[in-house]
Amino acid sequence: MRIGVIGGSGLEDLFDEFAAKKYSTPYGKIDIYLGSVEGVEVLYIPRHGPGHRYPPHKVRYKANIYASKRLGVEWLIATSAVGSLKKELRPGYLVIPNDIIDYTRRSETFYNEKVVHVDFTHPYCLTISDILFKSAYESQVDVRKDAVYICTEGPRFETPSEIRMFRDWGADIVGMTNIPECVLARELAIHYALLTVVTNYAAGMQDRISHEEVYSVMREAKKHVLRILHKSIVKLDKIRDVIDDCVFYKEEAEKLLHG
Ligand code: HPA
Repeated sequence: MRIGVIGGSGLEDLFDEFAAKKYSTPYGKIDIYLGSVEGVEVLYIPRHGPGHRYPPHKVRYKANIYASKRLGVEWLIATSAVGSLKKELRPGYLVIPNDIIDYTRRSETFYNEKVVHVDFTHPYCLTISDILFKSAYESQVDVRKDAVYICTEGPRFETPSEIRMFRDWGADIVGMTNIPECVLARELAIHYALLTVVTNYAAGMQDRISHEEVYSVMREAKKHVLRILHKSIVKLDKIRDVIDDCVFYKEEAEKLLHG
């Protein structure tokens, strides 16, 4: 299984047929789906667990990434909802970030017993990001790239003052789940990129923000997300040579997994 998808719940519709399984890791047991997309075997992990059970600060990030690595995933596409800090990034748009700011209190790492500092100059895989952008463009969806994602602790939404500060810092979109997910993927030398759906304007830019609004925009965008994932998976499957942005950690990741 070279290709994996981590996303909000319901993306098993990616597959015509799939097997749902429980998978045990040293970091907890998680739900996984194994299926194929146009003949390509794909692993799908619903980020928030069965029935969307875990809130952003309780997601089993380490279990999700560890399971992906163990099952052979080299390319990992993540999807998530975000709020927009920019008028021009409208609800319904898709945005592919190229950088991230950590405003969480999470400090999860696979390297607690050893000093390993991963390079994060390019937090997201350039190859996957490019493929996602091309696939979105071909699908005639409103898509933007080169955005800065800021990750908050949640589960509450932000205050207007926080959002003003984040905008001053250079952030374009805000979400609650990409830290530590993208960090852990890099630590295990998995190519990882993120496709976000803007579900709302951030706090202070619209009257109020509701969970229902986020869900309803995500439901609307799902058909686009599925189409883009399909196209991207087919393209990724054909790639053999890549300018590797996480090759430095392959050896460390192997040692971590196999001792
Ligand atoms: N803030 C944080 N996370 C989010 C938002 C938001 O406004 N919308 C969707 N996920």
